[in-house]
Amino acid sequence: MDRPTTLAFYGLGAAAVATSVATLKKRLELSQAKHRSLSGHSRMARRLARLMPFYEYGEDRFFCCDGAPEDIAARRRAGFTRLSALYRTRFAKTIAHTAHASAAISDLRFTDAYRVPFQYRELVAAQLPSAAFAQSSDGVTITDLDGNRFYDLTGSYGVNVFGYDFYKQAIERGAARVRELGPVLGPYHPLIVENVEALKVISGLDEVSLHMSGTEAVMQAVRLARYHTGRSHLVRFCGAYHGWWGDVQPGVGNPVPAHETYTLTEMSEQSLRVLRRRRNIACVLVNPLQALHPNASPPSDSALLAGRRIPRFDRQAYGEWLRRLRQVCTERGIVLIFDEVFVGFRLGKGGAQDYFGVRADLVTYGKTLGGGLPVGVVCGKRGLMKRFRDDRPADVCFARGTFNSHPYVMATMNEFLRYLQTPQADALYRDAEHIWNERAHALNMRLAAAALPVEIINMSSIWTVCYTQPCRYNWMLQYYLRAEGLLLSWIGTGRLIFSLNYSAADFAAVAERFVAAATAMRDDGWWWDNPALTDKSIKRTVLKEMILQRLLSPRTTRPR
Ligand SMILES: Cc1ncc(COP(=O)(O)O)c(C=O)c1O
Repeated sequence: MDRPTTLAFYGLGAAAVATSVATLKKRLELSQAKHRSLSGHSRMARRLARLMPFYEYGEDRFFCCDGAPEDIAARRRAGFTRLSALYRTRFAKTIAHTAHASAAISDLRFTDAYRVPFQYRELVAAQLPSAAFAQSSDGVTITDLDGNRFYDLTGSYGVNVFGYDFYKQAIERGAARVRELGPVLGPYHPLIVENVEALKVISGLDEVSLHMSGTEAVMQAVRLARYHTGRSHLVRFCGAYHGWWGDVQPGVGNPVPAHETYTLTEMSEQSLRVLRRRRNIACVLVNPLQALHPNASPPSDSALLAGRRIPRFDRQAYGEWLRRLRQVCTERGIVLIFDEVFVGFRLGKGGAQDYFGVRADLVTYGKTLGGGLPVGVVCGKRGLMKRFRDDRPADVCFARGTFNSHPYVMATMNEFLRYLQTPQADALYRDAEHIWNERAHALNMRLAAAALPVEIINMSSIWTVCYTQPCRYNWMLQYYLRAEGLLLSWIGTGRLIFSLNYSAADFAAVAERFVAAATAMRDDGWWWDNPALTDKSIKRTVLKEMILQRLLSPRTTRPR
């Protein structure tokens, strides 16, 4: 080989090495920015989920899987039997309806299966069957098919901010206002203009697009970010929910991997470094609800194996994180999307942008904004909302949706947005944060005074029940709460959502029942105090059980 060729060869080699070193460095940075939990590692989580075997505790282990002695197990069994009898008599009709319907409603079959950790599922389903029907709502209560009135702690997945009566009226009044046009799609009802103007003011952004659900609004926001930046990847943060569309749900739950999603650690320096260095990032999606439990998945009782599930809510620290994120996104031309489908209009009129004092480029709203009907909305800066290019007529960012500006939805949304401008709404929002913090604090004082191992952690009217004692049965509390007339959603005590129309008297009744439920649970022996039991030891035991099960019956799969 002559000298110039040799030199060129070396040069190429050096360039290749430099490139691989740079690639490796970026890879390493990405790994460092992943949260150490399984939710931070989508691929691994999906693989492990496929390996996880089913097994259950028969009656012999159900009451003493934590090593409790016979007398404690007997107390638990007696409590369970009493609760079961109460369910079967008090909720008889509602349970019968649910059992009948669940054979053909796949959603119900799914939620029924994931109310408690799977090891307990069969016995619980048999003895404390779900009762998933209701006949009416009134004030802050919901009545089941047997005529039992429950205080509503479900908040209808966050939709119910102002109370059910408000939404009933919004639907009635709204329907009356658009009746003449009816369900005509295509031509708009003029109300849409007023809605869009109001949303522009609320979001502080220039344009609005209308969709049919929060999931679709997020899909569109991400699609717009990719279109305008010409980059492929979206960044979401560990544990954050953004609907059930594939790219925002890269882990368990999605049968195929999401190749263009990075799941990074929230409130982390390493994540900021990844945002600064990677050139393929189109947008960062933030669900501000994660401020309540950064990097953890929505707390569901089906995953409640042990005790404490979230740390304390720190508004200031999260706000500071958002400011830093904002800065990096601005520097790098990354679109910052706030997904306010849940927290928008709950934390305040101006949602998370106002609450944390940080502005996003695109904001998604949904849930309560529909005034009781389904909706999704994207608000954004003009340049980002445009779906075509003047100089490239075939280069478009397509988004439609048959029902996207349904006159009835526009009308109920209009009722909602008009209500926001009333002094009543101002009054509700003005004190909401303070009131709900005080209520959480007062309940915590009562729980502590009664030496009950339960603690509320809250972000305004969004609450999570935490357990201060490592215990394998904390999920049982949801059944005691129902027996006391408190209605929870299918994820159980992980999320209680209050509407802002709860009066002091309503809340006092809830607190009374809450303490009564926890006291009954304690008296039935579920919180047997065993100092040897720690969150770690519980998790280790469950892991051992799984490994053993896997080894004993590696091919066992349950009928689907
Ligand atoms: C933050 C967030 N984004 C998106 C969604 C999805 O909204 P929808 O259920 O209307 O599709 C939800 C739903 O809970 C949500 O909480």
